[in-house]
Amino acid sequence: MLLREYVEFTASRFSATDLHYGHGTSTALDDAVYLVYVTLGLDFDQDFRESSRRLSESEISLLNQRVEQRVSQRRPVAYIVGEAWFCGQPYTIDERALIPRSPIAELIQQRFAPLLQSTPGRILDLCCGSGCIGIACALEFETAEVDIVDLSRECLELAQVNMHRHGTFGRVHAIQSDLFSNLSGRRYDLVVSNPPYVSEQEVDSLPAEFRHEPRMGLLSGDEGLAIPLKILRECQEHLHPDGVLILEVGYSAQALAERLPEVPFLWLEFAEGGEGVLAITAKDLGRYRDYLI
Ligand SMILES: C[S@@+](CC[C@H](N)C(=O)[O-])C[C@H]1O[C@@H](n2cnc3c(N)ncnc32)[C@H](O)[C@@H]1O
Repeated sequence: MLLREYVEFTASRFSATDLHYGHGTSTALDDAVYLVYVTLGLDFDQDFRESSRRLSESEISLLNQRVEQRVSQRRPVAYIVGEAWFCGQPYTIDERALIPRSPIAELIQQRFAPLLQSTPGRILDLCCGSGCIGIACALEFETAEVDIVDLSRECLELAQVNMHRHGTFGRVHAIQSDLFSNLSGRRYDLVVSNPPYVSEQEVDSLPAEFRHEPRMGLLSGDEGLAIPLKILRECQEHLHPDGVLILEVGYSAQALAERLPEVPFLWLEFAEGGEGVLAITAKDLGRYRDYLI
């Protein structure tokens, strides 16, 4: 069988099955290409339609096993192949952490322009999971010191694999902490966070693919707002006076805006898709402190 025949066959099999996309790919064809290319170690620049590559028996056997996992277990491709891409770089991924897909990637690639007044020297990635946001920040800001924080020991172990993979081990520091609790006295120019923001009610209604992800990475009480609100309350103490917080709250954005109508959140727009990410300065976190209690 030719590579292009296998990709087309897999894409039509995925289309004919009730699969959910959004864990790094957005269509059946993208999902099929991603599964086949990463499994075979192919370069994404090669167009499968123009390839005359023939697959070996052992390649077909491995691919068939992986396609079967995708279809019968609804396991996202990134977990099956052990790799996800973020900010143009590959990250090692498994079920210990959420699959990287935050729209914050676009902000990192734009160096957070025009939100920052100067190049950040100290950055915090709060609720870091695989470490993708903090490591991508370290790669973008080559002299910055970056702390990456998660409550989950398993996530931090995976993040360390990614720190080694990207050569950022000396500048990125993994810290186990319940939000800011183990960060006393530490201040940053930039705090970036994609925390859990899904309510209990919503989490149980998500497509089966999400059940492969750690529940702790998704679930936040109080309509999804418990963890984002705690971050908003406690962040100012950990920002320099000109610092900025970038916080993703996804589809809990409306609930947050309704809960705190007085607070001047700047809701960011994304050319590559995504929403529910806000920016707020340390000064405004201080000014509106009484509303955040
Ligand atoms: C939505 S995931 C995001 C992971 C990563 N930032 C990303 O964008 O792929 C949220 C992460 O928050 C962590 N987490 C949950 N509760 C936490 C807490 N109280 N303190 C620190 N981290 C927490 C979870 O373990 C999970 O890794």
